Amino acid sequence: MLFEASLTRVLSSGLIITSILAGKASALPGRTVTTRTKVPLDSTAHSWTYVIPSHVQDGAARVRFDIPTTGSKLDTQALLTLDSPQLSILNSSVFDWWYFDAVSAQDPRESLTVTFFTATAAAFPWLPSNESSVLIAYLWISFANGTILEEYVPATIATVVGGQGASSPSSGNWSSTGFSWAALKDDLSAYEVIISSEKLQVEGRFSLTSTLGPHLPCGITSESTTLEFAPHIGWAALKPNAVGQVDINVKGSRLQFQGPAYHDKRPRAKIRKNWSDRPFAESVQSWYWGHGQIGPYSVVWFSYLALDDPSQTTYVSSYVARDGQVLVSSCNSTVLTVRPIGDPETGARYPPLAGDIPDGFHLQFDLGEEGWLRANVSGTRIAGDGKYYFRWAGTMTGEVSQSEAERSQNACDAGCSSITARDAESVLTGSAIFEQFVLAE
Ligand SMILES: *[C@@H]1O[C@H](CO)[C@@H](O)[C@H](O)[C@H]1NC(C)=O
Ligand SMILES: *[C@@H]1O[C@H](CO)[C@@H](O)[C@H](O)[C@H]1NC(C)=O
Ligand SMILES: *[C@@H]1O[C@H](CO)[C@@H](O)[C@H](O)[C@H]1NC(C)=O
Ligand SMILES: *[C@@H]1O[C@H](CO)[C@@H](O)[C@H](O)[C@H]1NC(C)=O
Ligand SMILES: *[C@@H]1O[C@H](CO)[C@@H](O)[C@H](O)[C@H]1NC(C)=O
Ligand SMILES: *[C@@H]1O[C@H](CO)[C@@H](O)[C@H](O)[C@H]1NC(C)=O
Ligand SMILES: *[C@@H]1O[C@H](CO)[C@@H](O)[C@H](O)[C@H]1NC(C)=O
Repeated sequence: MLFEASLTRVLSSGLIITSILAGKASALPGRTVTTRTKVPLDSTAHSWTYVIPSHVQDGAARVRFDIPTTGSKLDTQALLTLDSPQLSILNSSVFDWWYFDAVSAQDPRESLTVTFFTATAAAFPWLPSNESSVLIAYLWISFANGTILEEYVPATIATVVGGQGASSPSSGNWSSTGFSWAALKDDLSAYEVIISSEKLQVEGRFSLTSTLGPHLPCGITSESTTLEFAPHIGWAALKPNAVGQVDINVKGSRLQFQGPAYHDKRPRAKIRKNWSDRPFAESVQSWYWGHGQIGPYSVVWFSYLALDDPSQTTYVSSYVARDGQVLVSSCNSTVLTVRPIGDPETGARYPPLAGDIPDGFHLQFDLGEEGWLRANVSGTRIAGDGKYYFRWAGTMTGEVSQSEAERSQNACDAGCSSITARDAESVLTGSAIFEQFVLAE
């Protein structure tokens, strides 16, 4: 394989790109090496090194919203591309990030979230507005005693390496924050997030291991697979569920646990508190997202309402796997319902309004022949601004059962005489991390 050649140039934008094109061209003597001024979203680059500057860039950003696929498979290149930067440039109104979390299976009050942002506070209003760097390594930690730590370090430059034949299939280093991540295997079955921050006095490792492939918002479809979960919002859950192992020292205290972990490239669009000058599709009314492990089931949910959307569309994406086998990976809106639970006046109304604080959420997944997965999640707040945004870590309890209609149908198939339908399985439990953004006033 001819991956050794590369060309690095410092471009006027400050973005340095080493891009090696392989495939047909690389088979020719002398090879073809292409360097671009922007992240080449539609290229056939097999490996890449992007050095992302800390300042915002001018111009229109392009966003990768789909990826070529063959049949219902992701080839290695498509897989690795999912974890690469998805914006051609970072201007002040778009964002992209690499998100990693884990919650303890033993005590879900213990959790760790690390996000590598490329975003301005104008694009994502929960970032510190006084920081000029668009490269922020963000850390949230919750301890069993309820203590929560939320800290960040701005980076001076970020390096994202990936692709086949690269030094790492996917890695990122937010220099010189001490925060980095790296995929350890070519199939992205194992990741490690390393934190070594003198500034924060946090030092340790967080690993994610799983053989589950990525969940894409509408599953994988032949020829081209969409990453656009709702208008202007992309999403790729690279690790819908993994075994997370956390061992870090936080200002002298050790946080060590094992539990469900998750990694995604999060939605990227402009979220505005002040949306009056923007089209409806770019504004969030409500956004419910979460993931967890419940019994043998790995679960991811996303349910989204756009503000002032005349079509009143509920965008959903659901993922359920059992013992490593994917049962559902779909954006079919009939498959998933997510509703807040709590005080009907202030916490559980739907559609919600900003400031609503639900006690938890009720989730209902249609698993087809497997029946229904119904679960509740509730927990303690581990992040948020107290009004528009909350993230929780907690427990998930539920069961898998057949619907009443299917039960009676099955019973009648057997002659309407005996109840042959599978009884509800016993109650399943597990840990979850979940969040809500509600911007509608
Ligand atoms: C950034 O890029 C987006 C997408 O192309 C565009 O809609 C937006 O106007 C750009 N923002 C700025 C500040 O140039
Ligand atoms: C921004 O504000 C935070 C919190 O007030 C502070 O810790 C940080 O040092 C400030 N950053 C800059 C660059 O002024
Ligand atoms: C990240 O980059 C810094 C230099 O900026 C280097 O010292 C450090 O070793 C790198 N971290 C990893 C994990 O490669
Ligand atoms: C909670 O535990 C953390 C980590 O061990 C410790 O730093 C903190 O002081 C504790 N907080 C309280 C209120 O006990
Ligand atoms: C919201 O945006 C409008 C139009 O851009 C502007 O006139 C108004 O001052 C903004 N309001 C707030 C609270 O930022
Ligand atoms: C969505 O799922 C329902 C069953 O839950 C099915 O009847 C319908 O055909 C599906 N729609 C699409 C577009 O696949
Ligand atoms: C979820 O909580 C509701 C009360 O809010 C309760 O009626 C229901 O039985 C719970 N479902 C499960 C699966 O635990």
